[in-house]
Amino acid sequence: MENKKIKLKHINIKSILPAPGTNNLFNRLKKVESRSMHGQLPIAWKSAKDFYVYDISGNKFIDFTSTIFVANVGHSNNRIKSYIKKTLDKNFLHSYVYINKIRADYIEKLIKFAGKGFQKAFLMSSGTEATEAAFKLMRMYGIKKKKRKLGIICFEGNWHGRTLAAQMMSGNESQKKWVGFKDKNIHHLPFPYPWDVSDLNSEKFLEDSILKLKKKINLKKDICGVMIETFQGWGALFYPKRYIKKLSKICKQNDILITFDEMQAGFSRTGKNFGFQHYGIKPDLICCGKGMGGGVPLSGVIGRRDLLDLPEIGNMSSTNSANPISCSAGLAVIEEIQKKNLTNQSKIKGVILHNELNKISKLKKNLFKVYGKGLIAALIFNKTIKNIDSRLKSLVEACIKDGLLMVYTGRESIKLGPPLTISKDAIKVATKIIKKNILKIFND
Ligand SMILES: Cc1ncc(COP(=O)(O)O)c(C=O)c1O
Repeated sequence: MENKKIKLKHINIKSILPAPGTNNLFNRLKKVESRSMHGQLPIAWKSAKDFYVYDISGNKFIDFTSTIFVANVGHSNNRIKSYIKKTLDKNFLHSYVYINKIRADYIEKLIKFAGKGFQKAFLMSSGTEATEAAFKLMRMYGIKKKKRKLGIICFEGNWHGRTLAAQMMSGNESQKKWVGFKDKNIHHLPFPYPWDVSDLNSEKFLEDSILKLKKKINLKKDICGVMIETFQGWGALFYPKRYIKKLSKICKQNDILITFDEMQAGFSRTGKNFGFQHYGIKPDLICCGKGMGGGVPLSGVIGRRDLLDLPEIGNMSSTNSANPISCSAGLAVIEEIQKKNLTNQSKIKGVILHNELNKISKLKKNLFKVYGKGLIAALIFNKTIKNIDSRLKSLVEACIKDGLLMVYTGRESIKLGPPLTISKDAIKVATKIIKKNILKIFND
């Protein structure tokens, strides 16, 4: 990439890009690491603080990725660092499932943060373990009611992780070919994409999907749970509110549990503590990860007492469950959100971000639309545009050269999710960079 040197308040690009040494690192890793970990943009991170990322030449970028919607409370957050240090200084890195104080402090705090109706939690390390655990809990609940009540309803286009049940629940057919069989008790409903379904006709859309499903199964006797990604990830696409309300009603009538996969939406990302709160319903279970640990591996399922207590002692635990370092980080994340009012910050700054992006969208009619809420936004481009894939890759690379990191989804969308601590000024600088490069790359 050819690039200019740039020195601004939030950005400092002082070397050629990729920074010298980046390709060497890529090559070293290519030799020794699974191919599945590769394909990233050409930037080797050295450090990250607040809403800035620094590469190996000390180039400074505004971060609109939060790594991958993880650094909600800001990169290398001081409270997280200090809580982890305190735990380290006590010589306490691991305790397996032996009880300890930090675990009690954290889980009590977490449940309160999740709100009324959430009484217990189970902690793990990765998001996919959390969706896997929720799958297990929903099935255990179903089997307890009726032997055949095993069915899980999921959605086309949703995504829940890379382990077995998570992939089976996900909507991407090509990603799950390796599974080798189709679980006849997992059913995918069509997603109510906003370009196909309005809020007003969304109930009818749901009724039609359920009618179709009912030709194969009996809701009450066969279905134990619904797994919902709070918004469909690649496009930050929320469901119509009426759709979710109706779905929740159907679930209540048929003794079906609702789980929200809050991996990206949780921990204040969308302007609420959890994304499900936009829909005005109460899930039975929520799956969390990413922002939950603020950069430290931490995930969990939070829900009703009777559901979390379904597994026998030892039937749902992991070597790293409730690790003291992870719990210290998790506690710091919630305290940081509360002390800095980051949920509200996400809402307020989200309005600024979305306004700026919508202004660009208006300039280039029919090029892209803006979706999302709070500090998550996706620009979904018109996929009929010539060479859209390569042009979007060029857009992301051009923004890197100008000092801005964004999420390249590999589809017809670009995703933006800065740390919730980002300044309003930095949002303006970043959106100017996006505008400049969109106008340059889509100049036809
Ligand atoms: C909605 C959703 N669910 C589950 C996962 C899986 O989380 P992890 O990568 O931590 O296993 C992700 C990760 O991107 C996600 O976005």
